[in-house]
Amino acid sequence: MDEDARDAVLHAVSSAVLAVTRHLSAREVLQVIVRSAARLLDARYAALGVPDDQGAFAEFVAEGISDEQWEAIGPTPRQHGMLGAMLREGAPVRLPDLRRDPRFEWWPKAHPVLKDFLGVPIVDGEQVLGIIFLANKRTPGGFTAADEELLTLFAAHAAIALTNARLYERSRELTVIEERTRMARELHDAVTQKLFSLRLTAQAAAALLATHPERAARELDQVQRLAGEALAELRAVIVELRPAELDRHGLVETLRKHVALLDRLHPVELTFTLDGALPRELPEAAELAVLRVAQEALHNAVRHAESCTIQVRLTPTGRHLVLEIIDDGKGFDLVDAESRGLGLASMRERALSAGGSFEVAGNPPGGTVVRLVVPA
Ligand SMILES: Nc1ncnc2c1ncn2[C@@H]1O[C@H](COP(=O)(O)OP(=O)(O)OP(=O)(O)O)[C@@H](O)[C@H]1O
Ligand SMILES: [Mg+2]
Repeated sequence: MDEDARDAVLHAVSSAVLAVTRHLSAREVLQVIVRSAARLLDARYAALGVPDDQGAFAEFVAEGISDEQWEAIGPTPRQHGMLGAMLREGAPVRLPDLRRDPRFEWWPKAHPVLKDFLGVPIVDGEQVLGIIFLANKRTPGGFTAADEELLTLFAAHAAIALTNARLYERSRELTVIEERTRMARELHDAVTQKLFSLRLTAQAAAALLATHPERAARELDQVQRLAGEALAELRAVIVELRPAELDRHGLVETLRKHVALLDRLHPVELTFTLDGALPRELPEAAELAVLRVAQEALHNAVRHAESCTIQVRLTPTGRHLVLEIIDDGKGFDLVDAESRGLGLASMRERALSAGGSFEVAGNPPGGTVVRLVVPA
């Protein structure tokens, strides 16, 4: 190989590898690979196919075919004929005339006529990831053994590029899933609670409108305030902030206000007690866990427990902070309940992420105790 050719090889291969490090999508990487291969080996047509498991190609990119031609050819190929054979056999194929080979079947009417053909599998260990093939070499004489060697080298690098691109896409998918889970949890714990209270307050306003217009007006003020808070919570979820209330009023006041609000909205009697003095500085994670668990446990108690009273108790014990939500309702079977909603799982996760523990127990005379312990 002369020096120029060697430079061309290096350049083509490195551009494929660089395509990966630039974090392009798998398809863009494949395009770079095919383009480099076509240039490097002076082929009029080049294509690369990654099979799916339904007999077609998950990806099929080609060089040398215009958009109009694609349009006329129709859908991308199935795994039939030579492409299918190569995927099964996993061995290189070099032919002076593709159409004379027994493995050749047919192509659509508008398909360009391919004559000299060079195809190489892209393999990762035993697995055939795809095939890359060239057709119709511009220089007369067809593809040579040296060309085959070059394309094989190139396919080896393509395999790395493809595997990396796949890993990269998968890790990005995982990040998206994690983010979605976080959003779902935050929305569930924070925003739905506010909206729930908002709906009840609006109902109360509607009921009072005809008989007690001035009280209805007060309820409507409350509606406005709750809507503002729901909006703020939503914003906090989106930009991953702490709820503004925590910074404005501190944990204890925020809890107290929340309990007072629910007490007004529901027939059940709700109380809040703080047993002792809170340390001056609480870890942010602990504060957030206490607030969110209290919100969800309260929400569950008012919706599901059918109790007469609900107590919220916050007890600093030196090293820990204990939160208890105690109702005297009908109680429930934890095993059955786990799969019903998001709430229980979310509370448990909150406790874990703050380095604490979470438990749900029966309240001896009847009802439920939800207990969160976090490091203070
Ligand atoms: N204090 C309680 N008293 C009686 N039953 C409860 C209590 N807390 C939870 N449950 C039961 O446990 C189930 C699961 O609670 P969880 O919070 O996980 O889901 P959810 O409240 O039904 O729905 P979500 O919280 O997703 O809106 C509830 O459907 C309810 O049957
Ligand atoms: Mg719930």
